[in-house]
Amino acid sequence: MCGIFGIVTKDEEPLGQILIDAAKRLTYRGYDSVGAATISGGTIDLRKDTGKVEEVAEKYKFAEMVGQRGITQLRWATFGTPSQVNAQPHLDSDGDMVGAHNGNVVNNIELRQQFIAEGMTVRSENDGESCVHAVERYIDQGMDFISAIQHAYHDLEGDYAFVIGKVNDSKLYAIKKGSGLVVGIGKDFTCLSSDLPSILPLTRDIIRLEDGEIVTLWADKVELHSVNDGSLIERAPERITESMASVQKDGYPHFMLKEIHEQPQVAQELLHRMKGDQEEIDQILETIKNARNLFLVGCGTSYHACLAGAVYFSQLAGKAAIPVLAPQFEPQYLNAVGTGDVGIFVSQSGETKDVLNALQASQSKGMTCLSMANVIGSTLTQKTEAWLPLVCGYEISVPATKTFTNQVITFMYLAAQLGGNTDLDFDTLPDLMAETIESVDPAVKSLVPKINPWENSYILGYGLTYPMALEGALKLKEITYAHCEGMLSTEFKHGPLSAVTEGFPIIFAAGPEDVPLIISGINEVTCRGGEAIAVGQANPALAANANDMVTIPKSNPIFASLLSVLPLQLLSYHMAVARGYDPDFPRNLSKTLTVD
Ligand code: AGP
Repeated sequence: MCGIFGIVTKDEEPLGQILIDAAKRLTYRGYDSVGAATISGGTIDLRKDTGKVEEVAEKYKFAEMVGQRGITQLRWATFGTPSQVNAQPHLDSDGDMVGAHNGNVVNNIELRQQFIAEGMTVRSENDGESCVHAVERYIDQGMDFISAIQHAYHDLEGDYAFVIGKVNDSKLYAIKKGSGLVVGIGKDFTCLSSDLPSILPLTRDIIRLEDGEIVTLWADKVELHSVNDGSLIERAPERITESMASVQKDGYPHFMLKEIHEQPQVAQELLHRMKGDQEEIDQILETIKNARNLFLVGCGTSYHACLAGAVYFSQLAGKAAIPVLAPQFEPQYLNAVGTGDVGIFVSQSGETKDVLNALQASQSKGMTCLSMANVIGSTLTQKTEAWLPLVCGYEISVPATKTFTNQVITFMYLAAQLGGNTDLDFDTLPDLMAETIESVDPAVKSLVPKINPWENSYILGYGLTYPMALEGALKLKEITYAHCEGMLSTEFKHGPLSAVTEGFPIIFAAGPEDVPLIISGINEVTCRGGEAIAVGQANPALAANANDMVTIPKSNPIFASLLSVLPLQLLSYHMAVARGYDPDFPRNLSKTLTVD
């Protein structure tokens, strides 16, 4: 949540376009408001407002901004409504310092009261402003920036990263505590950001900050200090070679559609990688095999992958696994776990606070903790004993698609290996996915006018398709803003059936082995006027009983479960577009949730 970017150059120069480009590449982290500030000599130029980067940058002419230093921030609101005054960056009382943060300062309200009592000018309700005043408090006492940030660090509770600069200085200063912060080193400039996509177009030489580190940026060098004792930290830059191809739309109208279509390709890359890393996979399998309890932990879409993983471990390897929503891990299981138990923590971003909290709790009990994540170098990958990369490249669209299918394939592959299953021909899976995406699209599009007028719907699945039903419903909620509930098909008659009226849409994800059960469910709703839409393999009985049918290619039940989510992703995409919404950046959401 929230994204920051800062740049330091040798001389005053046009920084506006650099700030706009950086902000656009951080949009997935928040888009409630955007701001930019440049610092030149003794002046600060600060422009900010609610709205998308393109609109705000155009309205306030960001492109014309010049300076020797620049900061931009994308906000996902926590403290203070999305408004111009709460937009970041923020000024200090005298207007000679400017700063911005990402993260959450949990004692913001108490701090604001203190700052007001101390006579500072507090303009907003936003916790980013508290970071600025927390430094101002000690700069005003005559401290240098490193000392002031060291003291501010003790005042600011929560997880955050913030950047700050002052007039008549030539540097920017930043600190990391729990939220992502990466520094870039270029020719005659340095920069920093919450994440790599805004840095990599400028330079590929980067330094990843660790928690409790303060960085000072000059145009030609950076210095790292420990927040504890101010001591200098030596860290050589690393060179990033990963491709930036995923951050272009490549002719697709939205990143989401592009990422849906990328699924077969990233699946192939993932399978290639896992096959090439047999030694590492074997070690992970050994850990899983010996686990007393095996927990699969995640949130949102990643949790749905955990649900699928648990079914695969059982069906393919006879291994019980317990899927759990990360924040529920502590109340439900912590008291009962210890050495001998294993957790696989699953996350696209690798920064989800709920997941990191569960990880920390598990490690405190001596559990062995593994992870599955997409973002290389993310906190989750650094804090677990072994991690499985999802190999998806950047996923920009807030709704996860390709990272979900690669999470599912990773679990499928591990389970098949653990069970010694040789029947599943994984080499055929990418082509099956490509065939599904191409073949179902016309049928999916034809459903849009039928389902879109409804603000409520259900997606039902059973066994292998149950997690896919939940995931399809989450996608639909996330980007169409309509309510859609995913459910076990057999549960529908235990209550929700009462919602069915003439034409009420209910989608059934039918695994090839569950057709008779699904047909029962279909008839329970169609006889009451409901509109039953089946997603499954060609089957005359299924087609005859449902009102509509989306046919996926023939495959084994395990692969079929994965294929059944693809039409659901496309359905939510087409419905959102037909409603006039931007599926890439649904309102109120952020792709990286670094708050509780
Ligand atoms: C997925 O479409 C959602 N944006 C969301 O549920 C997401 O999966 C969840 O916030 C977890 O994120 P993570 O995978 O980065 O941990």
